[in-house]
Order: sequence, then structure tokens, then C-alpha cells
Amino acid sequence: MIELKNVSRRFGDTIAVDGVNLTIETGEVCVLVGSSGCGKSTTLRMINRLLPHSAGEILVDGEDITTMNPEQLRLNMGYVIQGTGLFPHWTVARNIAMVPSC
Ligand SMILES: Nc1ncnc2c1ncn2[C@@H]1O[C@H](COP(=O)(O)OP(=O)(O)OP(=O)(O)O)[C@@H](O)[C@H]1O
Ligand SMILES: [Mg+2]
Repeated sequence: MIELKNVSRRFGDTIAVDGVNLTIETGEVCVLVGSSGCGKSTTLRMINRLLPHSAGEILVDGEDITTMNPEQLRLNMGYVIQGTGLFPHWTVARNIAMVPSC
């Protein structure tokens, strides 16, 4: 469902994400774990095109995301904002469903 092929992202001289290869199958739970600053958020932001990737290829359902309409891509993807962006009086499911239902 989601495939990253040699994906990298630079911010000036900083290599935030360096050649990541990852395949996530439909229904699979995948967790990115790592120390602060290792590139987890940058990786997620590239998958829904909040950030462009500097190199490599990202496929969603077999399609290169750079050929897709970014808004349409995001409408098919739940995204829970860290910390202050959450609605604490809502359930986890409702927070996740918020973006696709907009
Ligand atoms: N907009 C930006 N401009 C410059 N550097 C950035 C930017 N966003 C991230 N970085 C740098 O890219 C690297 C990866 O950052 P990222 O936020 O992806 O890490 P993270 O794994 O999500 O960290 P945390 O666990 O603290 O959330 C860090 O060195 C960070 O300083
Ligand atoms: Mg982060």
C-alpha cells in the first residue's frame, strides 16, 4: 500500500532522511521508532506530501505520489497531529478520522 524506495530529504546541509526503503502492506501496522531528530516526522510528512522528498520514490497503492493531487492524496490518509493538535475530548478513532472527513 505504501512503498518508499531510497527516499531522502535534506534541509540545507542536514540529511534528515537518508535513503529509506520501506514497504507497508495493506492492513499492516508499522511503527517508526527512533531517537529525537532521526527523521520520523519528516518521513511521514513526505508520504502525504506536506514536504517534498529530495530523492527517491514514494508509491501509494502502486502510484507515484508526485503524480497525484496532494489534497486527494491526503483525503485518503488519516494523520494525527502530535501533541497540541489533538482533540483531547475525542476518541483516538475520531482524531484519526478527522482529516479524511474534512
Ligand atoms: N523544517 C526544517 N528545517 C530544517 N531542519 C529540519 C526541518 N525539519 C526537520 N529538520 C531536521 O531534520 C532532522 C529530522 O527531524 P524530524 O523532525 O523528522 O525528527 P523526528 O524523528 O520526528 O524527531 P522527534 O522524535 O523529536 O519528533 C532533524 O535534524 C531536524 O532538526
Ligand atoms: Mg517528530
